[in-house]
Order: sequence, then C-alpha cells, then structure tokens
Amino acid sequence: MRYFVERRREVMLHIENYMLEVMDTYLKPIDTNWQPSDFLPDSTSETFFQDLKYLRENAEGLSYDLVAVLIGDTITEEALPTYESWLSMVDGVNRDEQGGWMKWVRHWTAEENRHGDLLNKYLYLSGRVDMRQMEISTQYLIADGFDIGTGNDPYRNFIYTSFQELATNISHRRVASLAKQNGDTSLSKMCGVIASDEARHAKAYKDFMSKIFAVDPSEAMLAFEDMMRHKIVMPAHFLREMGLKIGQTFGHFTDAAQRLGVYTAVDYVEIMQQLIEEWKVETMPDLNEAGEKARDYIMALPNRLLRVADRMKNPTMEYKFSWIHS
Ligand SMILES: [Fe+2]
Ligand SMILES: [Fe+2]
Repeated sequence: MRYFVERRREVMLHIENYMLEVMDTYLKPIDTNWQPSDFLPDSTSETFFQDLKYLRENAEGLSYDLVAVLIGDTITEEALPTYESWLSMVDGVNRDEQGGWMKWVRHWTAEENRHGDLLNKYLYLSGRVDMRQMEISTQYLIADGFDIGTGNDPYRNFIYTSFQELATNISHRRVASLAKQNGDTSLSKMCGVIASDEARHAKAYKDFMSKIFAVDPSEAMLAFEDMMRHKIVMPAHFLREMGLKIGQTFGHFTDAAQRLGVYTAVDYVEIMQQLIEEWKVETMPDLNEAGEKARDYIMALPNRLLRVADRMKNPTMEYKFSWIHS
C-alpha cells in the first residue's frame, strides 16, 4: 500500500484539531453515560435472586442461532484491545497524549469497553453459555489479531471504522428486536443501547472522513476504492474455537447471522450505498484522473454486489458451537 505520508500528516493535523472540537458531540460525558450495571440485576439488592431467576427464564426463550450470534458479537466486542492498538498505530497523527486522535482513541475505547462488559455479564448470568469455551475463543481472537487491509493508513482506517460502526449498529439493533420477539425485553434494551452507541460512533467516523474528502479528494477516493475492491472484512474474521484453526468458527457465526437476518450480504451493500451518499461520492469535485476512475468503480459496485447477493442462498448447515450447552 503506497501513499504520501507527508500529505497524510498535513491532512491529519487539520483533522485532529477538528476532532478536539467535536469530541463532546460524538462521545457522551462519563458521569451520566449508561453503564452495564444499569441493565443487570444488582447483586447487592435483596431481590437479586428473584431478578436473576427472571433473567434466566427470559433467556430460555432465545433461539440457538440467536445465542450463537450474541456470543460471536460479544467476543467481537471483547477483542477491543486489538482495535485500540491498531487505531493508535495509524500514520501521520500526533503521538502526544493530548493530540486529537490519541484523545479520541482513548475516549472511544472507554465507551466501547462497556459493550463487551455488558454482554459478557448477561451471557454469564443467562445460564445458556459454556463460559470457559467462550473465554477461550475471546483469548484466541485477541491473540490472533486481525488482518483488515488498512495498514496504518488513516484514510483507510476511517473508511473501515465508518463501515464497521454502521455494521455493528445494524447487527445489535436486529439482535435487540429478535430478543424482544423471543420474550427477552431486558436483553433487547441492552442491545438497543449498544446499537445507539455504535450509531453515534459511525456518525463521528463518517464526519472525519468527510473532512478528509474535502481536503484530499482524489487520495481519499483511491483509498475508498481500494477498501471496496478488497472487501471489508469483519473484525472477528479470525474467530475460532478450541481445537480449530484460525478463522474456522467465523463462517458458522456469519451463517447464523445471515440465517436470522441479523447481518446479511444485502446489509453490506446498503452500508456501502449509505457511505457513497454521505460522502457525496457521485458529485465529488476536484478529482484527478485516477480519482475519477476510482469514483466510477465505486459508483458501479453496489448494483453488481446486489446481483450477487440476490443469487445467494440462505445457509442451512446446522453447526454445534462449543460455546452453547445443548
Ligand atoms: Fe461496540
Ligand atoms: Fe463500535
């Protein structure tokens, strides 16, 4: 991956100042933000055992696929150390602790950290999960890292995070509505608040990327094209269970998500379309020749992918995850 680091540095300097300005718009004050304990039985309360019983009764109604997807989502959230270390390695930013980007990364991580925390505690209390197997998968996923094709390029990085925050918003939102349908309203609330965090984060990354398009349109367009050509891979694409090779569990997790309609090939295309609109790709001014070609490639891609998605069959293979007690 080749690009002009000097130019990236100039652009990032400009974006970092902007980040400091808008940080409070996109991240919530800690003291009044929701915390996992707001949604979980209080173990110091006299009604704790009743509350726990109620939580477990509700969790009994969740379908096998839904529990599998929830575990996969939780492990994805729990691999936050991978994302934080990757984000802090991005090129062209001020390494100073008070620099806009490093400050953003710390505050974003702090908000994100509540997601895995809440879901993990819920799953532990639910009685549906072999926690040891889930924890082994989590440790593997963090140890295995990921390979998402952004390198340390800040432009590719913002495109990836914009995409991913939108994808996680969709999947948590859908799990929330399925949980409700399965009779678990408290799980539904948990996934709902997580989904709204993801939506807010997506707005931030899309905004940062818009700023990049405004000052460096051709290079930004080339980065977007490159990410789309290689396809956006999910952060948990190395997911595995004990005894399996890197990535061997991931396909079963995404099959379950596709079957439930929690995250599908059509969602992938719709996210792409949303980004194309958000960044006004079609009417982007001041592109050089390479930038124009990249734009044309991007504009033609959603329809091509929709045709492929239309032909895809829903995966039917049953798979027994070691995470779930039969
Ligand atoms: Fe998250
Ligand atoms: Fe997120």
